[in-house]
Amino acid sequence: MRTSRREFCAMLAGASILAPTFDLHAKEQRSLKALAAKKGILFGSAVGAGTSGSLTGSFSDPEYLKILKDECAIIVPENELKSYVISPTSDKFDLEPGDRIAAFVRNNRMKLRGHTLLWNHPEYMPKWLAELDSATAAREYLLRYIQRVCSHYGDRIYSWDVVNETLDPKTGELRDTSFTRLLGFDALRISYETAKEYAPRAQLVYNDYMSWGADHEKHRAGVLKLLEQFRSSKVPVDALGIQSHIGNVPMDETQRKEWKAFLDAVTAMDYRLLITEFDVGDKDLPTDFATRDARVAAAAKDYLDFMLAYREVDQVLCWGMVDKYSWLQGFKPRADGTAKRSTPYDDAYKAKPMREAMAAAFEAAPKRRALLRS
Ligand code: XIL
Repeated sequence: MRTSRREFCAMLAGASILAPTFDLHAKEQRSLKALAAKKGILFGSAVGAGTSGSLTGSFSDPEYLKILKDECAIIVPENELKSYVISPTSDKFDLEPGDRIAAFVRNNRMKLRGHTLLWNHPEYMPKWLAELDSATAAREYLLRYIQRVCSHYGDRIYSWDVVNETLDPKTGELRDTSFTRLLGFDALRISYETAKEYAPRAQLVYNDYMSWGADHEKHRAGVLKLLEQFRSSKVPVDALGIQSHIGNVPMDETQRKEWKAFLDAVTAMDYRLLITEFDVGDKDLPTDFATRDARVAAAAKDYLDFMLAYREVDQVLCWGMVDKYSWLQGFKPRADGTAKRSTPYDDAYKAKPMREAMAAAFEAAPKRRALLRS
């Protein structure tokens, strides 16, 4: 008896020997990076090459790296490209931890984000930089440091958070740091122009944590003013990075309107948008994990649906994929003393409802135009 081609294929599909391959394929199709890619979005996460076993040490955990390989198309070093790691004192310049992450990214054919060339925030600036006391020294430092870091990584960095958090959220004005005191807006101009010169193909981003809250009004207004100034002074900035360390309280109607007005104003100035540091704070949610996880997932879905409606959003990165490595464990702890559940995977590396919520948001998102470059 002859078997038709169709019958033969059906037999093969039913044969248990092939089942694992099919399962694997189906799993790959459902990865966050695949679901996001179908809509023209790069999905990824932060990873930290700090001390193994510590909050910042996810890079030495093989199970964590497996999640990155399965789920992510783009990676950002959590601390390794910050000045306090590269150049904590004037005589040090160390790109070794950043290079280790960059090698992993390259070997796994992922893209790399850079964070950040100037974290213009007094708390996160090495002492020697906070103490610079002449405009010449501040200018020289920016030119030399950014040239060294950008030319070292060159085209390997797809997108750079050139300047991070330079606005004081209480006033919307430039933060008072050695750089802004000595150079004013020129500190920012020099940073972007130098990045453009030494990483000409990288997307250049301004990154900050403004959000829709009523107490963020001045922050949002400050960001809009700054983005306008970048345009009118021809400073080469391509996109606004929205950190997105969101809480678990859904936006009310007024907040939705105000946040939409903000995003509309940003995109009207022809900036792209990115979600650079996504996680969901669960500080005040009930202790019970099931209730908490459901609330975190609902907040994630609501926020991503809102954001992904903007076709200008083409990168979404979590600030960590597994709870035990989340920076939030050390930031505003919960009153009941339990660990936070702010990322897509739990401490046993099992996907949580937040991961499914993110998958559903990618599936529901409209398609956007092709990525900037391969
Ligand atoms: C955090 C890291 O996650 C911590 O490990 C580090 O101690 C402090 O910085 N906004 C940012 C990130 O732009 O760089 C911060 O990362 C989290 C808030």
